Amino acid sequence: MTDYIPYVQLNTGAQMPLLGLGTFRLQGPEETYRTVDAALTAGYRAFDIAAVYRNEADIGRALSTLLPKHGLSRADVFITSKLSPKDQGSKARDGCLRSLEQLGLDYIDLFLIHWPGTQGLDVKDKRNPDSRAQSWATLEQFYAEGKFRAIGVSNYTVKHMQELLKSCSVVPAVLQVEFHPRLAQRELRALCKKSGVCFQAYSSLGTGILLSDPQVRKMAESYGKTPAQVLLRWAVQQNIPVLPKSCQPDRVQENGHLFDFELSDIDMAKLSEMDCSEKFCWDPSLVL
Ligand SMILES: NC(=O)c1ccc[n+]([C@@H]2O[C@H](COP(=O)([O-])OP(=O)(O)OC[C@H]3O[C@@H](n4cnc5c(N)ncnc54)[C@H](OP(=O)(O)O)[C@@H]3O)[C@@H](O)[C@H]2O)c1
Repeated sequence: MTDYIPYVQLNTGAQMPLLGLGTFRLQGPEETYRTVDAALTAGYRAFDIAAVYRNEADIGRALSTLLPKHGLSRADVFITSKLSPKDQGSKARDGCLRSLEQLGLDYIDLFLIHWPGTQGLDVKDKRNPDSRAQSWATLEQFYAEGKFRAIGVSNYTVKHMQELLKSCSVVPAVLQVEFHPRLAQRELRALCKKSGVCFQAYSSLGTGILLSDPQVRKMAESYGKTPAQVLLRWAVQQNIPVLPKSCQPDRVQENGHLFDFELSDIDMAKLSEMDCSEKFCWDPSLVL
């Protein structure tokens, strides 16, 4: 069992764990079941899922067996899923209903628009803003009906966020974007803070690449921790929720041990100084 996992409070009043399991590239029902089992054993209570990952049904099935096995109920876990770019706009309602059905759930704790663009439209297509506005209106309806307990967005830039904040009826609860020491996202974080939006990190390990960074490795050694733990601790120590992905039970457990040590102010600053705007994932800045 891992250390106690703290929560952040969303603008809906809901509590979201600071640590969740990333599930992108979990392969097939057996690996998914094994990994979700390992995560629940290690104390994880949040799962980051997406229609695009094609894993909603596998995770839904795994949870329906594993929650009782771990003595847990639906209310003990925090489930996030995301609207596929192919369902953006007029297809959003179908996409939302499909996620609920695939997961086999009556409600989803947090539902995000995955990407500011629409599949099939060029990034520069002037219909992109209207399409995502229509998706947001649909998410607001599901939120009003209680089918989504919180709604938010992912991969939105400052421009996309400003546009949404100006037009929305429900302020997004979460913005999920790439965040690690080489991509500090200062402007987006300041905007989120000002607007009451929880800033959530993905790819905190730089998709694995930052685990071999010499400075991170040296720092990890000095704390008797692993590079993954140092990278994740740097985020959670700033109260930024993380979603490390691993399909290996020992790593799932390792990534959960973040709350029994603290990085010094000097080391926090050293990691923050690594910022060089380097992205390891997709870049949404071109989407109109
Ligand atoms: N909203 C979005 O557009 C978006 C985009 C990207 C990611 N995400 C979410 O964020 C999650 C995490 O991001 P990510 O999957 O891109 O990358 P990540 O968590 O930064 O890194 C995952 C990689 O690191 C390896 N790894 C994990 N823990 C490790 C450890 N302790 N020691 C050594 N290697 C380790 C994993 O390999 P093994 O599995 O073999 O251990 C995997 O190759 C995703 O799964 C997804 O849920 C969201």
